[in-house]
Amino acid sequence: MKRLFLCLMAMLGVLSLAAQSEFDNEVMQTIMARRSIRKYLDKPVEHSKLETIAKAGINAPSARNWQYWAVRIIEDQKLLTDVTEACKATMPDWMNGDSSAKNMFRGAPALICVGAPKDGGFDLDAGLMGQNMMLAAQSLGLGTCIQTGPVRFLLTNEKAKFFLDRLELPDDYKLLYVIAVGYPDETPDAKPRDASKVKFIGGEISKEASDDDGLFIDYFENAQFPGGDEACMKWLQEHIKYPEGYTSNQPQGKVVVSFIVEKDGSLDGIKVMKSPNPLLSEEAIRVVKEMPKWKPARQYFPPPRQGSEAVRSRFLLPVIFKQP
Ligand SMILES: Cc1cc2nc3c(=O)[nH]c(=O)nc-3n(C[C@H](O)[C@H](O)[C@H](O)COP(=O)(O)O)c2cc1C
Repeated sequence: MKRLFLCLMAMLGVLSLAAQSEFDNEVMQTIMARRSIRKYLDKPVEHSKLETIAKAGINAPSARNWQYWAVRIIEDQKLLTDVTEACKATMPDWMNGDSSAKNMFRGAPALICVGAPKDGGFDLDAGLMGQNMMLAAQSLGLGTCIQTGPVRFLLTNEKAKFFLDRLELPDDYKLLYVIAVGYPDETPDAKPRDASKVKFIGGEISKEASDDDGLFIDYFENAQFPGGDEACMKWLQEHIKYPEGYTSNQPQGKVVVSFIVEKDGSLDGIKVMKSPNPLLSEEAIRVVKEMPKWKPARQYFPPPRQGSEAVRSRFLLPVIFKQP
């Protein structure tokens, strides 16, 4: 094998650096840290925080800015417990799965009720506002749980009519969903997400890194070569060799290698996603197999449980072969 040049530079950075900065901003951190919370501390939510959450809600996009939604934020504990009693009286077995909770909304101290026109034409707008509110709450250290289970009871049971009356929704509106809000008293693990739901069409890599290994895209901090991207580039420069007799007249360019970084930093499932030439693919795979252990991706946990733990993740490493 004759040692020749390897030019990674800009292209190496494209995927790895982009992936890192993606998880290095507050919005992504908030999105990734949010969980549905079903157990709350016995601690009221500050009114000012609920105002901020409402502001986030009404700043969601809506079709032609029509804002066909109605938001009611319940701080009245008696209203929450009264409706819970009504629920218990008619459906003793149904307390949203937890009969010991303070109320039927997972015991949350505050409840956001969102209504939308009865014809259903603006449910999407109302949904968008809900996500805005949940993320705002998360950013304020609060937990949330969007729920439609209780809505079925509230809309159909005569004994819950007083609750709906208190909401004073416009006549042609219906209650669509509720969001429990409060300080979390649990730290649930992230629920798995199915990366295969996402397909890229055209672009850099037309087939998404395969979904054959049950990996989740729900992690916070990307895996990293020890020492970072520059160290990775340098390491590749020192270790990559062109196949014997390979000349600059033969195909050059980028080999995109996909692999799993295991929790202990070892690399598995190494495969080529895109390559200008099978010989370059072979070399890219060989060199990745020789790499030292990586720093694994880390899952972030929201307060009150702080910290993170190592998780498996997939990494896409573009390696550029360019002979002078
Ligand atoms: C439209 C909708 C209705 C939901 N209804 C309920 C519900 O009635 N009770 C509940 O505990 N969670 C409910 N959830 C929460 C989901 O179970 C939860 O979002 C999902 O399991 C993913 O978990 P995560 O939110 O922690 O990521 C609902 C979520 C959505 C989007």
